[in-house]
Amino acid sequence: MTPAALARLHALCFTFPRPWSETEFASLLGGTGAFMVSDPQGFALGRAIAGEAELLTIAVAPCARRQGLGRRLLDRFVAEARQLGCSTVFLEVATDNAVALTLYRAAGFAECGRRAGYYTGPDKRKTDALVLSCVLGEALPEI
Ligand SMILES: CC(C)(COP(=O)(O)OP(=O)(O)OC[C@H]1O[C@@H](n2cnc3c(N)ncnc32)[C@H](O)[C@@H]1OP(=O)(O)O)[C@@H](O)C(=O)NCCC(=O)NCCS
Repeated sequence: MTPAALARLHALCFTFPRPWSETEFASLLGGTGAFMVSDPQGFALGRAIAGEAELLTIAVAPCARRQGLGRRLLDRFVAEARQLGCSTVFLEVATDNAVALTLYRAAGFAECGRRAGYYTGPDKRKTDALVLSCVLGEALPEI
């Protein structure tokens, strides 16, 4: 997916926090350790540095949701992080993003930190961010 396509999809998925621009995606993709898994209807983008991976954003087009794509992208992202030699994947999620939290917990992520009042909504209301992590075990050998 090109930075322009990523920005278009992101805009369908986020109003707050605001969607990221084509320029921001181009810059992220060019940054140290950046990696992405994608599908025409969704993507997961992050980076791997010093044995730790960070999921920066995951998005599935509204028309393609609830069909398992988000979970497949997350699983592929985690598998790629493992391939890159990472031992842990971190991510951050707003406490009121119940759908994403359910997805992450079902995939084995657990809370390891909280950033109080991290997000300020359009109505100036503060929302905490949770930091979740998933420790990567050894990959199972192929039989
Ligand atoms: C979060 C997101 C990526 C999930 O994508 P998706 O393709 O719909 O997810 P899946 O179909 O793989 O669902 C995986 C699990 O998430 C949970 N889930 C997904 N949609 C849900 C909903 N509307 N209500 C409750 N749980 C939901 C369920 O546990 C689901 O598993 P199940 O279908 O077996 O019950 C998608 O909703 C999205 O793009 N949201 C906007 C962007 C966003 O919030 N990103 C995360 C920022 S931290």
